[in-house]
Amino acid sequence: MVTSLKLLVVGGSGLLGYKVAELAVGEFETFATYNFRSVELQGCNFFKLNKCDRSATQALIKKIKPDVVIDTAALHNVDYCETHHDEAWKVNVEGTRNVADACKETSAKMIFVSTDYVFDGKKGFYNEKDAPNPLHFYAKTKLEGEKVVREAGIDYAIVRPSVIYGWNPSELAGLRSSSGKSMNFAIWILNELRKRKEIKIVTDQYSSPTLADNLAEALLALSKSQRKGVYHTAGKICIDRFNFAKKIAEIFDLNGGLIKPVTSDVFKQVAERPKRCCLDVSKAERELEVKFLTVEEGLMKMKAKMEH
Ligand SMILES: NC(=O)c1ccc[n+]([C@@H]2O[C@H](COP(=O)([O-])OP(=O)(O)OC[C@H]3O[C@@H](n4cnc5c(N)ncnc54)[C@H](OP(=O)(O)O)[C@@H]3O)[C@@H](O)[C@H]2O)c1
Repeated sequence: MVTSLKLLVVGGSGLLGYKVAELAVGEFETFATYNFRSVELQGCNFFKLNKCDRSATQALIKKIKPDVVIDTAALHNVDYCETHHDEAWKVNVEGTRNVADACKETSAKMIFVSTDYVFDGKKGFYNEKDAPNPLHFYAKTKLEGEKVVREAGIDYAIVRPSVIYGWNPSELAGLRSSSGKSMNFAIWILNELRKRKEIKIVTDQYSSPTLADNLAEALLALSKSQRKGVYHTAGKICIDRFNFAKKIAEIFDLNGGLIKPVTSDVFKQVAERPKRCCLDVSKAERELEVKFLTVEEGLMKMKAKMEH
């Protein structure tokens, strides 16, 4: 049943944005944007938008007049952001400001997708009252994006997921996004194992892997509710990357023996990653009435979708 609510998904060609749009069609009057990757979805009107273009962002939001705007668009390749500060700031902060200001002009509610990386990973199992302390530039831009949204004088909510995984058509086609990523961690593991390649995965970076479809449910629950503020919306299980990769191999019947453990001090990455960024999702479960999935449940659901 289509409600009278109009929803605009900024970044609808992305893994998360596409899932949100897909789930929203039939329940909301759904609009979405893409930047580089043109995608199609029955029941959803897509528009090309670079959110760094302030006047184009304002014009589109004024034209659609959405009740709710979910901004999933970001440059989120952590190492790329570390070496391209201006570009990362332009998209993740100034682009977000353009969306927030346009929401103000049209009195739309804005839901901003942030990240668990706003935390330094020293404590783990973070709740919404814990103080952020970003370690790398990408996380700094996302935290600044949160501030922009909070201070824009709009009705808003901020969600913080952790390592988003899942499957969507553009990822399968291997199309490169303007976010700087061509595929998510789970798809990359599947591809490498299917090619029978040996891969090194870190054992000392913990997160709460979040199935994009599950996060989309939470975003739509927020869109329909009067709830505001920050919500941790992630998977139910705290797991290191190595064991997450092993779980992927197990669920998809691939050779987990090809996955070799390595620690962060050996496996050098450009930007330092927080060690324990797991999130406490109890507030979101209670207030949004969404059940967050374990890694096993999420991977089973992903597998079923891919086989469908
Ligand atoms: N992926 C993760 O593990 C993870 C974890 C925590 C939080 N997050 C946050 O979750 C959100 C969604 O992530 P995702 O994995 O779905 O990302 P994704 O698949 O890489 O999609 C990113 C989307 O942003 C769009 N985009 C990039 N630059 C843009 C710009 N300048 N103007 C307008 N659109 C632009 C892309 O458009 P095109 O594809 O058409 O170029 C795409 O639709 C992001 O805000 C990210 O910071 C991600």
